[in-house]
Amino acid sequence: MCGIVGYNGKLDAKEILIKGLEKLEYRGYDSAGIAILNENGVTVFKDKGRIAHLRQIVDDQVEANIGIGHTRWATHGEPNQVNAHPHQSASGRFTIVHNGVIENYHLLQREYLKEIPMQSDTDTEVIVQLVELFANEGLSTKEAFRKAISLLHGSYAIALLDKEDPETIYVAKNKSPLLIGVGEGFNVVASDALAMLQVTNQFIEIHDEEIVLVHKDKVEISTLDGQKIERNPYTVELDASDAEKGTYPHYMLKEMDEQPGVVRKIIQEYSNDAGELAIDEPILKALRDADRIYIIAAGTSYHAGLVGKQYFEKLAGIPVEVHISSEFGYNIPLLSEKPLFIFISQSGETADSRQVLVKVKKLGHPSLTITNVAGSTLSREADYTLLLHAGPEIAVASTKAYVAQLAVLAIAAYVTGKSKGIKSDFDLKTELAIAANAIQSIVDSKEELHKISNEYLSKSRNAFFIGRNIDYYVSLEGALKLKEISYIQAEGFAGGELKHGTIALIEKGTPVFALVTQAPVALNIRGNVKEVVARGANACVISMEGLDEHDDRLVIPKVHPLLTPLVSVVPLQFISYYAALERGCDVDKPRNLAKSVTVE
Ligand code: F6R
Repeated sequence: MCGIVGYNGKLDAKEILIKGLEKLEYRGYDSAGIAILNENGVTVFKDKGRIAHLRQIVDDQVEANIGIGHTRWATHGEPNQVNAHPHQSASGRFTIVHNGVIENYHLLQREYLKEIPMQSDTDTEVIVQLVELFANEGLSTKEAFRKAISLLHGSYAIALLDKEDPETIYVAKNKSPLLIGVGEGFNVVASDALAMLQVTNQFIEIHDEEIVLVHKDKVEISTLDGQKIERNPYTVELDASDAEKGTYPHYMLKEMDEQPGVVRKIIQEYSNDAGELAIDEPILKALRDADRIYIIAAGTSYHAGLVGKQYFEKLAGIPVEVHISSEFGYNIPLLSEKPLFIFISQSGETADSRQVLVKVKKLGHPSLTITNVAGSTLSREADYTLLLHAGPEIAVASTKAYVAQLAVLAIAAYVTGKSKGIKSDFDLKTELAIAANAIQSIVDSKEELHKISNEYLSKSRNAFFIGRNIDYYVSLEGALKLKEISYIQAEGFAGGELKHGTIALIEKGTPVFALVTQAPVALNIRGNVKEVVARGANACVISMEGLDEHDDRLVIPKVHPLLTPLVSVVPLQFISYYAALERGCDVDKPRNLAKSVTVE
């Protein structure tokens, strides 16, 4: 989704801004632009298309030490040059970049800006025109900015330049992520710390409805009603090189390859001095005290939540409901007496999940975020956080974060169960280590997975993924991976449910990927495979050692039955990757998708 950068310092701003935007490319965008300010005024470069194109249209001769930049993922107005950010006020005095959605922009336009001809179709332009209107009425830029911001309803992260004040970037935030990076003689603005790790790892959080004046040598934060705020920077513990592709052709491939290491790192991060799996006592208490857990998440994280339900119910004896965040917030079900809300989110920024967290907090219920991004909005705003320790996930399609979510959910459930005195007949630490090795063996067999992908998907326009019990949840994730990056229509189904309607879609050659990792239902799912084969399907059975039969197409190593999702998802990820590659799709940046979905 949209990204923002800003630089105010001594160096040439354009290079820093463009490099910052390159770091945000992974979030998904359709146009990009920068505005730089020097003694001659503001110069804007912007267009539809990639950052590489922006680089070409930026005039190297123009130099400036202050500027703002943006990658746009269209919400209001089609992706084109005019709608690309930055936007300028009628006289050109003010220039703005904005992430989010201004819900009342039509009303504001009608009430305040009837006389001003709009240049774009965006909601953003209203903000910059309002600032100019109020400045023309005699307010200082700071007051005009504050007044304009206080009229906005919706989500925003904003950076604004005033041609008449080449010392300051004016910043405001509500619901959309925004950070201020601080350094010696410069300060920066970024919607994601990754963008500005090139110059600093010291960042200050900005909270909703705060206004910030970013100067070269200081940062002034205040609330919308003018109260000053002091807030210290924190260190972002990320190595900029973690977010590099290295020799890999795609981030997705790199991130799939990293999965065994991610599981091992999680085992290490969640082991105490005695070498036993552990989580912080306050989190453990919150889990123990809950009479019901509500897992709230979207997309891949929702699929991880479905598996997490099995973990908490089987290992910790706590009933769990799993909800899609965009549905839950607007239709809250009857809640138990002592609920605990778990938000699963790779990015920690998903607006759909965040609106639920806001409501849950108002109701006074405890909350725990499971996220990959320390300091993200969901992590800051929930009572507790468990980190995934997966390293930056850049490819839009989530892979290693899903596996990490499963591992952390398993640990949280297992440790909670143990602390409640529930005896388990296995040692999770050992079993996770076995799962990490099993993932490694699949990663090492990628050539075979490439062949399988070609064999089943090269001519297909649709595909089915089936499984039963925990395999069903993995089949949902397998289908999502395939459709989002290869655009092959794919659906995940509970094996037994097919015959209640969907089997009508099976015809000669339809690829059906069937997972067989659960002993109690192995015969049932094999029965479902026979049903689809009898109707012409091209079935690819992926089974687990011990449950395999001679004509299964792939056999994954044996792991504990509860941990099979960490392993069985991996071949499905690779099969999707190769299908997308063969079709010439942009694997890391699939069309219409954004990495971090910061609008509801
Ligand atoms: C799919 C994918 C998305 C995300 C979803 C939630 O590969 O990445 O479905 O899982 O947008 O995002 P997070 O986990 O950041 O809340």
